[in-house]
Amino acid sequence: MAKARKVFTCSNCGANSGKWIGNCPSCNEWNTYQEEVIFKENNSSIGTWNENISTLVKPILLEEITHGSVVRTPSGDLELDRVLGGGIVRGALILLGGQPGIGKSTLLLQLAVRSKDKVLYVSGEESEEQVKMRADRIGVENKNCIIYTETRVHNLLIEAKKLAPNIIIIDSIQTLQIPELDSSPGSITQVRECTNELMKFSKTSQIPIFIIGHINKDGAIAGPKLLEHMVDTVLLFEGDQNYAYRIIRTQKNRFGSTDELAIYEMKPNGLKEVSNPSEILLSQSEELLSGSSVAATMEGRRTILIEIQALVSTAVYGTPQRSVTGYDLRRLHMLLAVLEKRVGFPIGQYDVFLNIAGGIKVVDPATDMAIVCSLISSMQDISIPREYAFAGEVGLSGEIRAIQGIELRIQEAARLGFTKIFIPKSNSKGLPSNRFDIEIVLISKIETLFNILFG
Ligand code: TYD
Ligand code: MG
Repeated sequence: MAKARKVFTCSNCGANSGKWIGNCPSCNEWNTYQEEVIFKENNSSIGTWNENISTLVKPILLEEITHGSVVRTPSGDLELDRVLGGGIVRGALILLGGQPGIGKSTLLLQLAVRSKDKVLYVSGEESEEQVKMRADRIGVENKNCIIYTETRVHNLLIEAKKLAPNIIIIDSIQTLQIPELDSSPGSITQVRECTNELMKFSKTSQIPIFIIGHINKDGAIAGPKLLEHMVDTVLLFEGDQNYAYRIIRTQKNRFGSTDELAIYEMKPNGLKEVSNPSEILLSQSEELLSGSSVAATMEGRRTILIEIQALVSTAVYGTPQRSVTGYDLRRLHMLLAVLEKRVGFPIGQYDVFLNIAGGIKVVDPATDMAIVCSLISSMQDISIPREYAFAGEVGLSGEIRAIQGIELRIQEAARLGFTKIFIPKSNSKGLPSNRFDIEIVLISKIETLFNILFG
């Protein structure tokens, strides 16, 4: 056994200290330091199973490495393939994070039972019966899906070596442990060392491993940031549990772009891929209501038309309230200030509520234009025709700024039957306007926009 030493580690950022500190000097979080045991020698002394495997890896000349070494296998789930950059890469270590109950276990079990390959699903959270019950709900097609409820990493890797599956799924990293380590499962040491062992195994055996990780209250993956550095791909599951839609964003990907996004709908029989999100996120109501408008947003490389709803009403209490779902509150404050200063709407005296349809979170600045239109539409109680879509960023002086992906946005709006799209004037250069089956209105200033709509 290697010589052990005790240190204190910040559970948020992974910084170390010889003594306990209340406020982390590195990430400024309070009360995050936990005691952990560090082994002075490297961890090869923990278990012996990996010693002979590691000799398989030899230094190799860069020239001799062939391109074909990145082999991708489709997972059978188009949305998952998309966020992975086109399929599961051999030997990849993929971390899937998300809040409890969002659908992490469902998604990966779904992958396991629908795959055509041999899959080893390691469950430290649920019993075999529980996994079976869930699998039955989803529908089992794979005869080669093995469930294993082991939490000791070395036992599980010995078994994995014998079984030689095509994919390994770990649910979850926080339940795994190396009993030789003097700390409980889920602690920083355990999480880090277990991931380390899994990483060595995936790299030497070339078996891709999916790891489920819990996230803490701020939405970061629990355990040191180190975990995110160790894995090849970090996928984050987000969405509101009160809505059926779930989104997976790629936060890091060594084998592809981080611009990708997967959208699912939670159904009684598992997660269903949503290939055409706009059609669900637009209101189906027949009545024309004030305060609602449609934004042509881009999430990653996908164009999604989303309905924005605003409610602006006279403040009942002294301080006006501002409340948002699915959008950045500070950005809303900025837009309100622009409306007040540049266009002269006395919006400071009103309560403002803003809601993005479907529990989806948007970060695209091109949503600005639809938001200001919604706000004014609600305040003036004048509805915006349902056939209008908006895409443009609002600058601090009320100018409408250019956005990226303009052609894709126009195409998607035209495809969905919108008759008019309002876009920044600065985007018009080189835009073949007669190519689209939709009227394009160029806007350079927010005042012009309001004159057209509410003038
Ligand atoms: P789960 O996948 O266990 O979430 P996590 O592993 O991220 O904690 O469960 C997600 C929720 O989805 C759970 O509350 C029950 C629900 N659910 C369905 O609606 N349909 C289904 O087919 C399944 C399996 C779960
Ligand atoms: Mg789970």
